Amino acid sequence: MTARTCLAIVLAAGEGTRMRSARPKVLHPLAGRSLLAHVLGTIGQAGVTSTAVVIGPGEDAVAAEIKRVAPDAEYFIQRERRGTAHAVLAARAAIERQADEILIVYGDTPLVQPASLSRLRDAIGGGAAVAVLGFRASDATGYGRLIVEKNQLVTIREETDASASDRKTALCNGGTMALAGKTALAILGRIGDHNRKHEFYLTDAVEIARGMALSAAAVEVEEDDMRGINTKKQLAEAEAAAQQRLRQAALDAGVTLIAPETVYLCADTKFGRDVVVEPFVVFGEKVTVEDGAVIHSFSHISGAHIGKGVSVGPFARLRPGTRLGEGARIGNFVEVKEAVVEAGVKANHLTYLGDASVGANANIGAGTITCNYDGAAKHRTDIGRGAFIGSNSALVAPVKIGEGAYVGSGSVITQDVPAEALALGRSRQVVKQGWAARLRGLKSLGKKGSSQ
Ligand code: UD1
Ligand code: CA
Repeated sequence: MTARTCLAIVLAAGEGTRMRSARPKVLHPLAGRSLLAHVLGTIGQAGVTSTAVVIGPGEDAVAAEIKRVAPDAEYFIQRERRGTAHAVLAARAAIERQADEILIVYGDTPLVQPASLSRLRDAIGGGAAVAVLGFRASDATGYGRLIVEKNQLVTIREETDASASDRKTALCNGGTMALAGKTALAILGRIGDHNRKHEFYLTDAVEIARGMALSAAAVEVEEDDMRGINTKKQLAEAEAAAQQRLRQAALDAGVTLIAPETVYLCADTKFGRDVVVEPFVVFGEKVTVEDGAVIHSFSHISGAHIGKGVSVGPFARLRPGTRLGEGARIGNFVEVKEAVVEAGVKANHLTYLGDASVGANANIGAGTITCNYDGAAKHRTDIGRGAFIGSNSALVAPVKIGEGAYVGSGSVITQDVPAEALALGRSRQVVKQGWAARLRGLKSLGKKGSSQ
């Protein structure tokens, strides 16, 4: 049996007026990544063969996000916003390529799970021309209802047209839909705009299919899958639901979360075995934590690889491009960015390591700063293995500290330091015997002290 082909169409041309934001709706973040990135990620996991995204005119930022997270996806512009079926037809060129199944997913419904999409595909595989995801809503206001008779979905009735008993008993329409590829264009072409808003509604596909003697099916999924986001309140509710899922998955995988409700995860956070995460830690995109690492409280981490047995925080900030080797220790008030920190390195307090490489077992004293930015460009700092950087030192990049070299406390290092050398980049200490006592003596005579 050959695998069935599937085209996914993501509708993301909505204006998102109710978000009251300059940012396009599908670019708002949820669990550390955009709504659109969630949907595109889920589609990828559902094994689709091609993806088309329908966006509004002038949405360059949305197009850039598509390129970033799903470089193989095509996008189509819906020039006028004339309803969901009209939006789907903006991707007509992709539909004409005749996939076995066409999945239609809303860009503002980010929590739909790959398994739910697979179930929709299975319904089409089983002979339905149209299949729709439905759910039981805790508050059903505003949703269309799926009217099912004898296991067949017969119509989608908008709330205003539904009878009191339909409103009580029928599943709500989640909006996510699948169409059989061979009849999709025939159905879509028959959808009209004879309704109050003069829009082309995708929901009409069900009745049209039935009129063509084709069958339609409803597939029930949990409410969280179908949470649509139109407002900031709904975004916050979806965030809570997403975090709940991610924390549960981390716990199931054996991560110790001491206070799960205080830890914020990203959809792509990866944990090894026996990882401990203390209360109040935030994970952004692209973080991997290897076996046995401990993340102490109040740390903020994104784009970082944390090696085996590493200790991070409390109060650490790891920014993108951070790689921490086995057993490294990154302590309180330490910030790391674009830096490879090898095994056994200690940077225990008050340090900034940016655009740097730090060799194995180097010791970075409190208050060490890599001065990576000169106001115009960024430069690199290279610290050799086993080097010792004394407290309160400024390493002015570009600069190299050789293996095993020693930098005296309070140094400003502007030139490379050879391996095994000592560098003292500070003015010599001056001691003036009796100076302070003389100063106080002058004051007690009511005279002004001088520095002689
Ligand atoms: C729709 C359904 C309703 C269902 C609900 C689920 C219809 C008539 N109603 O209502 O039964 O319960 O979703 O959330 O379909 N979009 C475009 N271009 C357009 C119009 C919409 O890209 O011209 C996109 C929007 O960005 C959004 C999605 O399609 O991602 C849904 O559109 P929306 O207007 O929000 O539908 P609802 O009124 O919520
Ligand atoms: Ca909506």
